[in-house]
Order: sequence, then structure tokens, then C-alpha cells
Amino acid sequence: MRPKLILLDEPASGLDADETNALAAALNRIREKFKVSMLLVDHDMSLVMRACDYLYVLDFGELISTGRPEQVREDPRVIEAYLGAAADSAAEAETVKAKPKKKLEVLPPVSTAPLLEVKDMSAGYGGIEVIRGINLTVGRGEIVACIGANGAGKTTTLRAISGIIRTNRGKVVFDGKDITRKAPEAIVRLGMVHIPQGRGLFPQLTVAETLRLASYSGASSVDLAPALDAFPMLKSRLNQAVGTLSGGQQQMVALARALLVQPKLLFLDEMSQGLAPAVVQQLFERIEIFRKAGTSVFLVEQFVDSALAIADRAYVFEQGSVAVEGPAAVMRRDRDVIAGAYLGTAVAMADVSSNGNGHHAPTESLADFSIKLPAELKRAVQERAAREGMEPGEMIAELLKAGGRAK
Ligand SMILES: Nc1ncnc2c1ncn2[C@@H]1O[C@H](COP(=O)(O)OP(=O)(O)O)[C@@H](O)[C@H]1O
Ligand SMILES: [Mg+2]
Repeated sequence: MRPKLILLDEPASGLDADETNALAAALNRIREKFKVSMLLVDHDMSLVMRACDYLYVLDFGELISTGRPEQVREDPRVIEAYLGAAADSAAEAETVKAKPKKKLEVLPPVSTAPLLEVKDMSAGYGGIEVIRGINLTVGRGEIVACIGANGAGKTTTLRAISGIIRTNRGKVVFDGKDITRKAPEAIVRLGMVHIPQGRGLFPQLTVAETLRLASYSGASSVDLAPALDAFPMLKSRLNQAVGTLSGGQQQMVALARALLVQPKLLFLDEMSQGLAPAVVQQLFERIEIFRKAGTSVFLVEQFVDSALAIADRAYVFEQGSVAVEGPAAVMRRDRDVIAGAYLGTAVAMADVSSNGNGHHAPTESLADFSIKLPAELKRAVQERAAREGMEPGEMIAELLKAGGRAK
């Protein structure tokens, strides 16, 4: 059979970044060789941008944009559908501006050293490096958001910091202590609590038993009052098994337990996963409680707008590295700054600084220089640059700089 049209329903689902690139290349080869048309449905924008000539964008059953990939990528309605509306009303802009003032009141006046400092960290699974050269900090009393497409390496970053997987390179300093490659239980004792993606609760335990685990020994003398004050809906469910609660209630149990531990830093990995937007809103409203209790929060989120609304700063992950970092309020207003990491290309930065991972060299300092390369080397450079979301020249410069540092 020689088909004229192939229909593909989410072929990139479950693939990692490399596999998605290989898929895009395979689709392009098939298309050229067999002159066949394709109709592809996918929300993985890196595949869509690489494989498609023309796009139709649907949002809740409504066609919101059509055009060539480079046009659609710039369309504000598409950016909004992916990331939520930008904060552009006067009132919201005011809250955004007022935020630093509020933060100053909360921050302790003396210590300026960050609570958490991650330097040039790399990690992965079974010899495959998934995150590279991660640099980030979380200040005392700060709420920091970590956003980025699926598979960008956000969860892996949290796991590497909290000691669940070992780092290959780099250094992690927490509250003045070097915790690189320390055991996770030792890191917990220093005051870092990690609520993993999927919440990490024991479904058979009751709510009360789960909350008492805040004392590690599960002692019945644990005072549950602060948790129940913050999450009053748990009062009537203390003797119910956690597994029988709704997803939103389970997340409240996880947050309530973390509150009782009174950690210095809380990691929250996709707290809102699988929950209805109204429930997500309620959970976000509780995050401020941690700040008031003196806990810094580092949260990974798919609900970009809600995360940026409560965060002071944010990091945008793209294919295993930090692509953009800066004040959350700036990212909230200028969606272009983060759209690239979601929609498959790096974009111009507003007043958000590069983290030294090198994705964004200042254009005024660039000069042209041409060299002759063997064809296969040129292809390898182009493919790797595409994989890492960089221009080929930018990537060569990075490699040369890294080589220089190694000597
Ligand atoms: N346990 C694991 N073993 C092997 N690869 C993994 C594992 N967990 C995640 N990965 C891979 O690491 C990459 C980053 O995943 P992850 O950190 O979970 O991304 P995110 O949290 O940003 O969605 C993905 O390519 C994913 O397939
Ligand atoms: Mg994740």
C-alpha cells in the first residue's frame, strides 16, 4: 500500500527530547522519500515546529490560530492558551509592582547568602545525563518557581538537589553546608522537605497518622493544630485513609504535614497535577502560609500563571538546562521571554538576565567568522545545536569556552 495521507495522533507522547528530535527527522525523511502528506496532532511544540509546514491551533474545541509555525509561535492567543493570560490589567500590574516591597518586610535583615545555592550541577539516570550545568539559588523567605515543558528536567533537578539521585558534577550548598552527594535523610534533617510529583503519601494511613509523621517517629503527641488551622477541611477527615481522599485533599495533607515539619525549604513538584483549576487556586493561596512561617519554597509548576503570580523569581527549563531566569513579575508581563522554552525556540529576552548557560549572548558583542568543516561534522553540529535549542555558532562558542575552562 502506498498511502497518500498519514494521520498521526500524539506520536511524541512519552518520548524524551532526543527521541522527539529523532521522530521529527524520521517524519521529514518519510515525507520526502514517499511524497506522502501528514496530518499530525500533538502538543509537543518541539516536534510540531520541526515537522510541520502549517498549523491549526485548537483550544477547548475552538480554532484560535492558523498559519506557518513561525507565525503561530508569535500569536498572542497561542501563547496565552499555553501559558495563561499575561498580567496586563492596571490592578494586576500594581500588585506586581508592589511585591518587592512586601518581600523586604518578610526577609530577615542580616543574612544575604542564599539558603540554597546550586552550582554547575549535572545529573541523570543510568549513565545518561539529563540535566547539565544547572545554576540556581533560593533566598531566605523567597518563593521561586521552576517552569518548562514536560521532560525538561525539572523533577530530575529537584531529585538531584535533595539527594534522591546522585549528581555527576557540581556543588549544592544548603544553609551554609555543602550537601553535595549527602544521603536524602541527612538532607531532610537539615530542613529541606520534598513533596514529590504524585505527592508521596501512604494511601492506607489515616490523615492523622500521616500528619504525625511530621515528627519522624510518628508520635501521637504531635500538635496538629497549626496544620488544621491552615487546612481546616482536614479536621473532619482525620480518621479517613488518605487513599480515599480526592486529589486536592491529598495534596492538602502533604502540604499540612510539610507545614508541621517547619522546614527551611520546601520543594513542591507539580502540586497541581491532575487537579481542577478551582482546587489549584485554593492550593496556591496556601503557599503564602509557608513564607509567613519562615519557609522558602521552590515549586515546579505547569500552571505557569499561578506560579508566576506567587513567586518572586523563576527559572525556565528547556531540554535539561536553565534557558531563562529572572523576576517572576517580568516573565508574567512579557510572555515572549518564556514562550520560547515552551514553543520550541529560544526567543529574545527582555530585562531578564542569562544564567551563564550561554543561550543568550548579547548580539552587540557578536562578530562573523566563517570556517570550513567536513560535511558530517557540520551536520553533527547542526543537529546538536537544534537539540539544545541554540544557534550552531552559539553552540560552538560554548564548546570552545568549556574547552578553555577544562585546561
Ligand atoms: N527514572 C528515570 N529513568 C530514566 N530516565 C528518566 C527517569 N525519570 C526521568 N527521565 C528522563 O529524564 C528527562 C527529564 O525528566 P524530568 O526531570 O522528569 O522532566 P520534567 O519534570 O521537567 O517533566 C526526560 O527525558 C525523562 O524521560
Ligand atoms: Mg516532572
